[in-house]
Amino acid sequence: MKEPLRYRNGIPFFFDKSEQDFKKDIYERYDEMVVRQTALHLADEIWGNYPMQHVLDFGEEHCQNYRDGSILEVGSGVGRWIGSLAKRFPGAKCWGIDYSYQMLKRANEFWVEGKSIEVDLRSKGFPGPIKINGYQLRNLQFGLSKATDLPFENETQDLVLNSFLLDRLENPLEGLKEMFRILKPKGKLMLITPLNFNKYEHWLDFYPPGKLYEKLNEIGFEILDSREDMVIREPLDGRGNAVAWKCLGVLGSKN
Ligand SMILES: C[S@@+](CC[C@H](N)C(=O)[O-])C[C@H]1O[C@@H](n2cnc3c(N)ncnc32)[C@H](O)[C@@H]1O
Repeated sequence: MKEPLRYRNGIPFFFDKSEQDFKKDIYERYDEMVVRQTALHLADEIWGNYPMQHVLDFGEEHCQNYRDGSILEVGSGVGRWIGSLAKRFPGAKCWGIDYSYQMLKRANEFWVEGKSIEVDLRSKGFPGPIKINGYQLRNLQFGLSKATDLPFENETQDLVLNSFLLDRLENPLEGLKEMFRILKPKGKLMLITPLNFNKYEHWLDFYPPGKLYEKLNEIGFEILDSREDMVIREPLDGRGNAVAWKCLGVLGSKN
């Protein structure tokens, strides 16, 4: 594994993110992104369930074999998916890599430092505030890097996960190739994406889903499973307004 370039509040930086990069990155905006992602992913009590449960359920079928493996989530945000796996599989060695320091700080506070966090969504019509208690997981670490520049040696990871990441990458193909590079032979890639690209060329390259499968095959992945009918409803407010994300789930194996 690469040595960190520096640390900020306990978060290792494997990429030299400048102050200008920080300003440009919408995921560093605290209220808009971190507070919202914290509520969505960690404060199930507000919603009465976990709105992104489909992500965990898709993973559930395939993650069982990795209870003692090395598991990496790329674009881990506030860490719900990788944190849940680390909690269930204390023998697994888990990493969450993200490009946003603010997301990583929140993830680390909650899943590793065991801090309790207050979530106040009264401005969105919910009662509140509520307190959620964190964990002190010893088999989970978070670090800052880009999906296209992961701080791991070739062929070191058993399972690589990502959700709601692919369509946010400047170069999705390079991201997928990088995940392939660090997977062990027979290692698995699990991705969930709404394919909600914001660049015309990415739509051309990866949509409809057959084009994504082709790209994965060209990189060297065999597609073991795919689902194109997953609808994830992201709640917006206490009145019940929501965004429906039509998601694709793919399990690939490095051959
Ligand atoms: C839409 S959020 C998804 C978070 C979480 N995985 C989920 O399913 O909700 C996208 C996340 O990807 C991160 N991200 C964006 N570009 C990235 C990149 N190039 N490398 C690593 N992470 C990135 C963002 O900081 C953010 O935390």
